[in-house]
Amino acid sequence: MKLLVIGGGGREHALAWGLAKSARVETVYVAPGNGGTARTPMLQNVPLSDIDELIAFAKNEKIAFTVVGPEAPLAAGIVDAFLLAGLKIFGPTQAAAQLESSKDFAKAFLVRHQIPTADYQTFTDPIQAKAYILAQGAPIVVKADGLAAGKGVVVANTTDEACEAIDQMLGDGSLGAAGARVVIEECLVGEEASFIVMCDGSSILPLATSQDHKRLKDHDEGPNTGGMGAYSPAPVISPALHNRIMREVIHPTISGMAKDGIPFTGFLYAGLMIGSGTDTTRSIKVLEFNCRMGDPETQPIVMRIKSDLAQVFELAVTGRLSEATIDWDRRTALGVVLAAHNYPGTPGTGDTISRLPQDTDECMVFHAGTTLDNGVLKTAGGRVLCVTVLADSVKRAQSAAYAAIAQTHFDGQQYRTDIGWRAIPAAASST
Ligand code: AMP
Ligand code: GLY
Repeated sequence: MKLLVIGGGGREHALAWGLAKSARVETVYVAPGNGGTARTPMLQNVPLSDIDELIAFAKNEKIAFTVVGPEAPLAAGIVDAFLLAGLKIFGPTQAAAQLESSKDFAKAFLVRHQIPTADYQTFTDPIQAKAYILAQGAPIVVKADGLAAGKGVVVANTTDEACEAIDQMLGDGSLGAAGARVVIEECLVGEEASFIVMCDGSSILPLATSQDHKRLKDHDEGPNTGGMGAYSPAPVISPALHNRIMREVIHPTISGMAKDGIPFTGFLYAGLMIGSGTDTTRSIKVLEFNCRMGDPETQPIVMRIKSDLAQVFELAVTGRLSEATIDWDRRTALGVVLAAHNYPGTPGTGDTISRLPQDTDECMVFHAGTTLDNGVLKTAGGRVLCVTVLADSVKRAQSAAYAAIAQTHFDGQQYRTDIGWRAIPAAASST
């Protein structure tokens, strides 16, 4: 069968690579793809992004099902359009995607269904927003309501910083419509984890746990980014916490959406803040929902999938997810992102990627911002590559990833040297 993956980042490269391992898959088309998907056997790039053109392509090529990677096409209603055209697709409808595309929708939903999250208020008026900030004090978090490509959240250490964020979002319109409304919320402390499940509207299949590194620099310093590296599993999520997250967050979310008349299909990604304490006393609060897989969390997660991934999606798009299971590699997968010069600001592009390690089952370089220019691989975006490895422990995975990075080169490359640091003491003490 032929499949279609929508998107062109590292997440989509990993998903397409994972799907192509299925014996029944002939070709995985990636729209628009990147320099890596252009070179991976069995994958083929399709230079399309318009929804009507993608529907025509899927019909012509008799695509068995489509998997959507990024949030933008979901928020634009790609799933509704494919379903209307009688095509199978995995992702949430435009209405369900509001869990990610509107922070205000997500917060109101969480409160309505008594799912734990930071206290908040929503504002459109800068004067009222600033008065609230001054009354609450710092630290405090300011979030643009709409999709802002990872640039919509300011964790402010001072009220001045928070008021500046208000001026930027509500004042000068630099985030456009996404910033026309802001959510101001309590600053939570603890350890962040990504908890991702697949859902077919009623049944839920949890994926392996993972943890991202949002800050640009080592020791979690520097600006927030889309994610500089991730690993799976995340030892912070013990089996007891796993059960609590399912019971306290995931089940109430899926049943709440169904009750609200907006059944959720697709990936539901809960960004969580886990407070300190024991597994029974630690607080679990929802920081955000995404209605897609994480990038770069997908890269290590997919490396650990031993089952036929295409079959899992096939069951999901036909409402039979309850019959699906995923067999996980017990090893740790760890991915380190190599970003371009000046990321997360406007990145440098067009640099030649002169060296790359050989791809193997234990070491894959998933591409994001790359392009094949007359056969030469060049940088074409902020996050360029994610070097992802599998190894027996986090420590070994870390060493293997950095050994592979030593064989990688493009001008201006920047990466963190401490991906996995939180899991190393935790993994060591749990064995
Ligand atoms: P979001 O897009 O909502 O996940 O926010 C991006 C990042 O900002 C999160 O991964 C956290 O690191 C941080 N963040 C968001 N909300 C809060 C909060 N209420 N308290 C502390 N940090 C937060
Ligand atoms: N890595 C965070 C995200 O995909 O939103």
